[in-house]
Amino acid sequence: MKGTPLTDQIVEYMIELFPAEDALLRELRSAAITAEIPAIQISPEQAAFMQVFLRAIGAKRVLEVGTLGGYSAISMARALPADGMVTTIELDPFRAEFARGWAKRAGLSSKIEVRVGAGVDVLERDLAGSGPYDFAFIDADKPNYVRYLDLILPMMRRGGVIAGDNALAWGEIANPNAQDPSVLGMQAFNRAMAARPELQCSLIPIGDGMCVGVVL
Ligand SMILES: C[S@@+](CC[C@H](N)C(=O)[O-])C[C@H]1O[C@@H](n2cnc3c(N)ncnc32)[C@H](O)[C@@H]1O
Repeated sequence: MKGTPLTDQIVEYMIELFPAEDALLRELRSAAITAEIPAIQISPEQAAFMQVFLRAIGAKRVLEVGTLGGYSAISMARALPADGMVTTIELDPFRAEFARGWAKRAGLSSKIEVRVGAGVDVLERDLAGSGPYDFAFIDADKPNYVRYLDLILPMMRRGGVIAGDNALAWGEIANPNAQDPSVLGMQAFNRAMAARPELQCSLIPIGDGMCVGVVL
């Protein structure tokens, strides 16, 4: 084993020492479970990492595909300046409304805009020409990740960053015999990120892994 494997004890240590989850986000998580929204949001240590990243690049405009209950959108919006904006796309109208409600409770209604629809449609139809964005977070249906990358790349500023969640594909990313369409989608996405001459990329092994690329 090269490097240090992230044990549960180490992850707990990271979350405790560098907290990104406050009482509101904890409440959001449990309200989402009550509302039968699956608990597939980013992990608290991913949220901390993204907040550091957003501040490091001076991000103001963020684009997200895959809102769920708004956990990542709220985490990101908190790391933006007062005039910053997270535009986030969600297929499921119930989840979109839930996320709007929690953005309001977090006092972030003016910094989080939830668009309802299929990611590809919203990007092509509603958000064409809406760039440049400083940061894009792809966290929706895995088979469409490469499509999202193709659509989002021209919308990014130079020095902006694209991040795709689940870059470790639940531990299956390096499996050459993978059949699951979501795993295949993530393998294709990581390969596409690595192959784009406009990007310099790295895979950050926190949570289920984030493939991040800076636009050259
Ligand atoms: C992993 S969750 C997003 C988690 C969220 N980013 C967070 O960390 O709080 C993926 C979300 O993408 C949504 N989704 C799935 N297919 C989609 C599509 N084609 N377009 C937009 N959203 C989609 C799902 O409904 C789900 O809420």
